[in-house]
Amino acid sequence: MSLQKEINRRKTFGIISHPDAGKTTLTEKLLLFGGAIQEAGAVKSNKIKKGATSDFMEIERQRGISVATSVLAFEYKDIKINILDTPGHKDFAEDTFRTLTAVDSVIVVIDVAKGVEEQTVKLVEVCRMRNIPMIVFINKLDREGKDAFELLDEIEQKLHLRVTPLSFPIGMGYDFKGIYNIWEKNVNLFSGDSRKNIEETVRIEDISEEKLDELVGNDAAETLREELELVYEVYPEFKREEYLEGSLQPVFFGSALNNFGVRELLDCFIEIAPEPRPKESDTRLVQPDEENFSGFVFKIHANMDPKHRDRLAFVKIVSGTFERNTPYLHVRNGKKMKFSSPNAFFAEKKQIVDVSYPGDIVGLHDTGNFKIGDTLTEGEQMQYKGIPSFSPEHFKYINNADPMKSKQLEKGIDQLMDEGVAQLFVLELNGRKVIGTVGALQFEVIQYRLEHEYGAKCSYENLNVHKACWVDPKDPQSEEFAEFKRVKSKFLAKDKRGQLVFFADSAFTLQMTQSKYPNVTLHFVSEFEPTTIHNSVQ
Ligand code: G4P
Repeated sequence: MSLQKEINRRKTFGIISHPDAGKTTLTEKLLLFGGAIQEAGAVKSNKIKKGATSDFMEIERQRGISVATSVLAFEYKDIKINILDTPGHKDFAEDTFRTLTAVDSVIVVIDVAKGVEEQTVKLVEVCRMRNIPMIVFINKLDREGKDAFELLDEIEQKLHLRVTPLSFPIGMGYDFKGIYNIWEKNVNLFSGDSRKNIEETVRIEDISEEKLDELVGNDAAETLREELELVYEVYPEFKREEYLEGSLQPVFFGSALNNFGVRELLDCFIEIAPEPRPKESDTRLVQPDEENFSGFVFKIHANMDPKHRDRLAFVKIVSGTFERNTPYLHVRNGKKMKFSSPNAFFAEKKQIVDVSYPGDIVGLHDTGNFKIGDTLTEGEQMQYKGIPSFSPEHFKYINNADPMKSKQLEKGIDQLMDEGVAQLFVLELNGRKVIGTVGALQFEVIQYRLEHEYGAKCSYENLNVHKACWVDPKDPQSEEFAEFKRVKSKFLAKDKRGQLVFFADSAFTLQMTQSKYPNVTLHFVSEFEPTTIHNSVQ
């Protein structure tokens, strides 16, 4: 098959949701359709259960599962589908943000009763900023929940999306009768008694047909007609170009647990979702159908076995074909590298592959050469963009608690930071090390992993930092910047890439600093180009 054909038959996406909305259940049902797994319950949830904060066996178990479920690939109707797993737990939000740099589209799952929740807001905002095409799946229709129109309004307002339903529920909860599929123009009935299976799918070209009354009863049929009239009146017509450019989001309703509305979602998804998209590098826009291979690392997973130091670097292929045992350039360190056993993922299994195509993910064994964001090419000097660091939420000084093991500590911290577990800052004034994390859980994870994987011990000391901001002076030679550095010297640090960072102890300090030094911009993300109102301090 030609490269172009391979590209055209690939869809790489992520499912995002607030924990418990039904991401794992939906993933599993999609895999069942693809015949990739045989029974429900096969996909293990990757979430950290409540109360697991200090249960490290649980965290280790979750890490194990997370390798297995990092990429779930399957084939459906001759389309190769790659689902990239995104942790729902907010302490691992940064992991999810990074994974979103490797997807070509997303499905957003929303619980019909809970509506739009906190994590959904954050994740959708990231997708919106990057114009990632999104499909919304409203789940758990077998339960009582919010009215469909109310939910659509809520999605528009809280997620700032422009939605259009492609299916519509007939009743809800106890009265849930089925779904009218606007996309395919048919009615899908939910079985009356067991409520477990799809009873039948009946084609209804025109909803004024009497057949509808016979199927769902007069009242429900009338209500549906009125609601659909409103839908056609209020919501824009679905246009694929608008969905692809991120300006229109189709909505589906269903119940993942009951496998209801999932096939409709999948059938529409394979038709409308984008194939691998071009990606911006620091020198140019790279097209997937270019002959030369290129790709980037978006995730690194350390080996669970402390005796084996190797890690798995997950590479998204952007262009060309990736071949086993072929030398590729690791652009950042200028070295050529060959990979004898690249892993591809099929459902929950890993297997060695000879060739992979754009959209695919390969897992490369790594002995410490890779960092998140690294680019591989056939020799071209370019670096993919778009894996920024976000300001952490929690900060602590990290101290060496066992002076005999300082080397191990250095190495451990270094490798954990490469994996993206947390961010390390070094204070300009005294060289002290500060760890910044998205969630409080990571401090314990780091301490535990340093001890168990590197034989090093650390202790923490509290540090009052509200936000870490990347410093971006208009003119590095200016008087203003020199004064900023002098006055704020106690609060300045360098990140791992050597970029200057300002630690603000409160939102007030941040505002004052920004107004006092208007030509020194402070950013909440480490990459400045995509700066928007959301990212820069006003
Ligand atoms: P997550 O990955 O987004 O965190 O959610 P997950 O799929 O684990 O689902 C969270 C809970 O919601 C699970 O119940 C799951 O069975 C349930 N669920 C998912 N889809 C539906 C649906 O369409 N209808 C109903 N009624 N429930 C649904 P749990 O009790 O937390 O776990 P389990 O014991 O059932 O596995």
